[in-house]
Amino acid sequence: MTDKDQYKIQDEPFYQQQTNEVALYEAAYRNRLPVMVKGPTGCGKSRFVEYMAWKLGKPLITVACNEDMTASDLVGRYLLDEGGTRWLDGPLTTAARIGAICYLDEIVEARQDTTVVIHPLTDHRRTLPLDKKGELIHAHPDFQLVISYNPGYQTLMKDLKQSTKQRFTAFDFDYPDAALETEIVAKETGLDADTVAKLVKIGNVARNLKGHGLDEGISTRLLVYAATLIKDSVSPQDACRMALVRPITDDIDIRETLDHAIDATFA
Ligand SMILES: Nc1ncnc2c1ncn2[C@@H]1O[C@H](COP(=O)(O)OP(=O)(O)OP(=O)(O)O)[C@@H](O)[C@H]1O
Ligand SMILES: [Mg+2]
Repeated sequence: MTDKDQYKIQDEPFYQQQTNEVALYEAAYRNRLPVMVKGPTGCGKSRFVEYMAWKLGKPLITVACNEDMTASDLVGRYLLDEGGTRWLDGPLTTAARIGAICYLDEIVEARQDTTVVIHPLTDHRRTLPLDKKGELIHAHPDFQLVISYNPGYQTLMKDLKQSTKQRFTAFDFDYPDAALETEIVAKETGLDADTVAKLVKIGNVARNLKGHGLDEGISTRLLVYAATLIKDSVSPQDACRMALVRPITDDIDIRETLDHAIDATFA
């Protein structure tokens, strides 16, 4: 298998479009514009990027960013082994060489000195300097950079610089409306739509508590978990407590409110 094939997505991922984001992404890709996907956790950002990579038939290289990440983790480094020193490309370099879509997940977690290495790749230059190796890579024509970003988690200290933000086009994602979310969770899990609609209702109760004791509402991902458990014959009440409530809060009052909503919904 070549490098390229290894990163290709073989089977069509299930992705339910919310509005016209698929066509808009295709337009961005046609013009090789960098893309930023914003939105709360578990709302479909990664699934969307996987789907687009599949649809466009391009390899996808995903990097989970964290605060300990250095520029070398993205770009590459010299390794010392029995044969001497040899250069090992990082994921960003590999993507630029083979013409992959490079998805930097949770880019704000990375330190700013790491973030700036993407700058020359995201403007007209489309280059990546490998300073330590003394090589300048010209990105493959198919290369595209995509980053994800969770607004709301940022403090003033931890935000992208304007000079980084303004290198991207952006999609604002959010949890879908009730009808669409029901369709998504039902399709994803095979659970009947009536039961899923009840889960979605509970999800929306929690989302309305955001800012009133909850930092973040129940994500579509957690609704998928709950539906999966119910489909595997766990009782709806147990499934909801385990998948929807316990993960998101330790606050006794909020737990009670949500448990109450669950019992009322599935009485
Ligand atoms: N539009 C959608 N179509 C199909 N599945 C979806 C959609 N939205 C959400 N999902 C479901 O929700 C799950 C979580 O979505 P995803 O992993 O894309 O979230 P995310 O936005 O990347 O979250 P995070 O910020 O935590 O990485 C998916 O695995 C899928 O089951
Ligand atoms: Mg994700």
